[in-house]
Amino acid sequence: MEMKGFRSSSPFPYPLMATSVIALLVLSSNIKNCLATNTSYIKSSCASTRYAKLCYSSLSAYASTVGTNHTKLAIVALNVSLSATQNTSALVTEMSNRHGMMINETNAIKDCVYEVGDAICELQQSLEEMKVLGGSDFEYKKNSIETWVSAALTDDETYLDGMDGYNKTGKVEKSIRKSVKNTARLTSNALEIVDCLTQD
Ligand SMILES: *[C@@H]1O[C@H](CO)[C@@H](O)[C@H](O)[C@H]1NC(C)=O
Ligand SMILES: *[C@@H]1O[C@H](CO)[C@@H](O)[C@H](O)[C@H]1NC(C)=O
Ligand SMILES: *[C@@H]1O[C@H](CO)[C@@H](O)[C@H](O)[C@H]1NC(C)=O
Ligand SMILES: *[C@@H]1O[C@H](CO)[C@@H](O)[C@H](O)[C@H]1NC(C)=O
Ligand SMILES: *[C@@H]1O[C@H](CO)[C@@H](O)[C@H](O)[C@H]1NC(C)=O
Ligand SMILES: *[C@@H]1O[C@H](CO)[C@@H](O)[C@H](O)[C@H]1NC(C)=O
Repeated sequence: MEMKGFRSSSPFPYPLMATSVIALLVLSSNIKNCLATNTSYIKSSCASTRYAKLCYSSLSAYASTVGTNHTKLAIVALNVSLSATQNTSALVTEMSNRHGMMINETNAIKDCVYEVGDAICELQQSLEEMKVLGGSDFEYKKNSIETWVSAALTDDETYLDGMDGYNKTGKVEKSIRKSVKNTARLTSNALEIVDCLTQD
């Protein structure tokens, strides 16, 4: 038989077994690669969001967690939005304690602390709800998640409107504005990702 040469040089007694071991090795290294580097699912899911580039840059690091699971993608997106909101909150709190700002401005920033604090609660609530999504009342739960996320987005926007009348060239104002804007965009993307969820 043609296999004879192969058999004699193989460390395995059965050529078929040797072949399947090699096939398994190749397969498992492929899977590993694909989980570690394949970001095409994130890219294609982000393509339909309003801030697609930001969506991709903020979520691609989670490609191996997400795989091709849309529920996981939504959880990760909400979590990134929550983390950005927490960062904004820390920044705003720090800034509101600084000197050299007009008193009415300081008050506006303090209002923001509350607004952003609300947004944090709302996003935490939506993440809790994501855990129990599924079953017969899928649409109802999905709607309530969207309500929470929308409320968080509204809080961000309310703050941006509130700051409109204030020093547009101020360093502090600029950095807060930038942070809130980034957070609002991440939240908007998360909302769109949640909206695309379907029941399996
Ligand atoms: C990434 O995964 C998709 C399926 O989700 C597949 O079609 C594509 O070939 C993969 N790309 C790479 C580079 O592995
Ligand atoms: C997707 O992820 C969710 C949440 O982790 C899980 O409950 C669900 O079973 C997964 N779906 C598939 C098809 O793996
Ligand atoms: C959410 O992100 C935080 C870090 O910002 C991480 O510690 C936590 O495990 C994440 N949770 C989920 C459900 O992804
Ligand atoms: C929040 O801040 C931490 C610490 O500075 C940083 O590692 C993380 O990337 C930030 N998260 C977001 C979503 O901006
Ligand atoms: C804030 O107070 C300053 C100084 O009193 C005033 O000039 C400015 O118009 C006020 N800004 C707003 C938006 O009310
Ligand atoms: C606005 O901010 C700039 C830069 O920080 C500062 O030079 C300027 O005095 C501020 N204007 C007011 C009205 O506070």
